[in-house]
Order: sequence, then structure tokens, then C-alpha cells
Amino acid sequence: MKRWIVAGSTLCLGLAVGLTKLTFSESSAMPPSIERGRYLAMIGGCNDCHTPGYQTSAGDVPEERWLTGNPLGFSGPWGTTYPSNLRRLLANMDEEAWVRYARTVETRPPMPWFNLRAFAEDDLRALYRFTRSLPADDTAVPDYVPSDKKPVTPHIDMVPKPAEP
Ligand code: HEC
Repeated sequence: MKRWIVAGSTLCLGLAVGLTKLTFSESSAMPPSIERGRYLAMIGGCNDCHTPGYQTSAGDVPEERWLTGNPLGFSGPWGTTYPSNLRRLLANMDEEAWVRYARTVETRPPMPWFNLRAFAEDDLRALYRFTRSLPADDTAVPDYVPSDKKPVTPHIDMVPKPAEP
């Protein structure tokens, strides 16, 4: 009797471990989907900067406008930068080139390139597939303005100010 209980509980434990493994491997083997890419564009902050009006409308921008680049510049000691049109950028790259690019790109601020390179490869692929699923958009953002020149477009001043006494 005792032996059966031990054997039974070992079997249960084995089944439980097996099931846990199954569930885990199923979820990590999920193909990089367009739906996940949409989720990442949102929670990864890409829309915050690369979608016009996203921050100021608290995210109330239809998907048709997502990731089309932003003519509102960011100015600081690096000059003035404009979040690129990611649809246009990715239209000129295949998925493999994007994965390599995302792993090596270093931009000027405030683009968090160090976060982009930390993406899991499947997530980079999902973001690529989502962006490519959106209609083509060729809108160009203004050119980078070096720090010794004044930007002629609207821009956000990101120069840190000393504390007021
Ligand atoms: C705080 C604002 C901000 C956020 C958040 C942000 N970006 Fe950027 N991004 C920029 C700016 C500004 C540039 C242009 C930098 C430059 O000119 O050097 C840029 C540039 C890039 C580039 C290089 C484009 C090129 O033309 O070569 C890529 C790729 C990119 N961003 C992808 C992303 C992705 C993907 C996300 C989300 C995970 C993201 N960015 C989040 C502001 C941002």
C-alpha cells in the first residue's frame, strides 16, 4: 500500500513537472506575431516618440498614424533630433537586416537605443512584422540639426536646468 502511495505521488509530481514544462515551452515557442509587435510598439514606448501627437493625446492616435515619424524635435547638447519614420526605415530593410541593425544601432539622444538592443530576437521580429503590416508611409521627418544651429521647427527643449535657489 505504502509503495503505491509513493509511486502515485512520484507519478503526480512527474506529471506536474511535465505539464509545467509543456506550458512553458509552448509559450516561449510562440511565433513572433503581428499582435505582439503592436503590443511592443505601445508598451515599449516607440509610439511615445515615433508617432506624432501620441504623448500629448495620451495615446489617442489611430493606428494608421503609428510610427510615421515625428516633426516635433528634441533639442539638447547633441543638437536637435527627430524620431524617424519607422515604416519608411523598415520598408527598406528585410527582417534579418533589421535584427542586425537593432542590435548595433547607436543614435543621438533621446532615442533609447540601449533598450532596443536588449529586445529579445523574437520581439525584434514581431515589431518588424507589425510595422511592415501597416500601410506604407513615406513621410520624411526634418533633418538632424547640429548643436551650433537653431532648429526652425517646433521642438522640446531637453537642456537640464540647475536647481533654483
Ligand atoms: C524618447 C523618445 C524616443 C523613444 C521612446 C524611442 N525613440 Fe527611436 N528615435 C528617437 C529619436 C529622436 C531618433 C533619432 C535619433 C538621431 O537622429 O540620432 C530615433 C531613432 C530611432 C532609430 C534609428 C532610425 C534611423 O533612421 O536610423 C530606430 C531604429 C528607432 N529609433 C527605433 C525605436 C523603437 C523600436 C522604439 C521603441 C522600442 C523607439 N525607437 C523609442 C526617439 C525615440
